[in-house]
Amino acid sequence: MNKKTKKICVKGPASLKGKVNVGGSKNAVLPILAATLISDEESIIRNVPDMTDITVMIAMLRVLGKTVERNGSVVTVRKSDGLTGEAPYRLVRKLRASVLVMGGLAARKKNIRVALPGGCAIGTRPIDIHLKGFKKMGADIKVSKGFVNLNSSGLRSAVINLDYPSVGATENLAIAASRTEGETVLENIAREPEVEEMLAFLEAMGVEIEPSSRSVKIRGRKEFRPVDFTVMDDRIQAGTYLIAGALKGSKVEIDFSHPHVLEALIHKLEESGADVDVDGNKIRVCGPSRPMPSEIRTAPYPGFPTDLQAPFCAYLARTKGVSVVSEEVFENRFLHCAELMRMGADLEVKGESVIVTGVKNLTGAPVKACDLRGGAALIIAALSAKGLTEITGISHIERGYDNIVHILRSLGADIREEEEVNGESLNND
Ligand code: EPZ
Repeated sequence: MNKKTKKICVKGPASLKGKVNVGGSKNAVLPILAATLISDEESIIRNVPDMTDITVMIAMLRVLGKTVERNGSVVTVRKSDGLTGEAPYRLVRKLRASVLVMGGLAARKKNIRVALPGGCAIGTRPIDIHLKGFKKMGADIKVSKGFVNLNSSGLRSAVINLDYPSVGATENLAIAASRTEGETVLENIAREPEVEEMLAFLEAMGVEIEPSSRSVKIRGRKEFRPVDFTVMDDRIQAGTYLIAGALKGSKVEIDFSHPHVLEALIHKLEESGADVDVDGNKIRVCGPSRPMPSEIRTAPYPGFPTDLQAPFCAYLARTKGVSVVSEEVFENRFLHCAELMRMGADLEVKGESVIVTGVKNLTGAPVKACDLRGGAALIIAALSAKGLTEITGISHIERGYDNIVHILRSLGADIREEEEVNGESLNND
């Protein structure tokens, strides 16, 4: 049987020049879509990016009983008949973030079943912190046959201290608390901008939210306001293009709604010798011919984002010296390293760190994306490498980057997407 595969082909090195408009934030839209489950009013969400993760979450809302219309970058969620109480494995395994429907379902229904997402390339991705929070709110939890069963006579408000500032657990529990009578306090919460954006959406729905430095008070309700909400631009896409714009000979301007949220990355880019200028909603970057080495430790916001660790590794591959990149958030987020080494990078993974000994040049090679941000790292490396790089496994990249080939072509990169059947290319430009 014919096997069609897609790949991204890049002829490097590229000197990128021009402007990038970044689309809406995937990691803000996903919890916001999940939050619509608590309300029967109409929710209009604008600046929604075109990515497979969003498509899967929309499918999940429809399976659960919501009416969802998508018109370009605008998604409208309306009430339909009653909500079902089961989030099927066939969708949850495609999108781990669909466990975020748990909060809204548990706040409205006494018995729900949500498939366990299972692990993924970057780690086992447990949801124990989510479940401990729901237990504190009165849910009886049983895990069986790959499903989490939450039963309660109705959730109750509680004071919940998260063992770790988990983004997903913060979002799941905030959604549940928003439709639970009384005041729930979440402590040691994640403060990622995408979490703040979801809290702003809940507030627009009429939920009383009182944030403080590491906690939030939420007064739940049963009636909500219709909402028309425009989501912030995607911080990780913006960061990825900033790193690409810091490659040798490149000069790029990113139009991005919240430049301050990229402070940790901007600081590291400047430390490596790149020039970065923040001017209102524009960030201009131009790279050194070879970056200076750097020391990176990923951390919850406002620390260096784990989602930019792999793209930054690719950037550091050509430094004049030795860098150390430590991944403190996920347990297995170095899958890109073996692929970068096929392109001539000199990397040594040691426990939770990778030692990056800079080389003068990378060379193009066939490589494969193993996860979303690792795939972006391969594109960054391909743009700076000499020769042709062919990247397979690009469905990973399409989960979190909107039109990346088109955007990089508009900046002057020699990059295209090719289809091949049983290894033979279908594109003959
Ligand atoms: C969100 O994942 C993002 N995904 C991730 O982006 C991002 O890398 C991550 O936050 C950290 O910023 C979305 O927002 C859809 P966590 P999430 O719960 O919520 C452990 C991308 O590339 N943990 O903060 O799953 C967990 O295993 C994706 O766009 C528990 O142990 O992240 C991990 O080691 C990848 N128990 C750490 O905490 C739990 O109950 C951070 O996880 C929950 C988490």
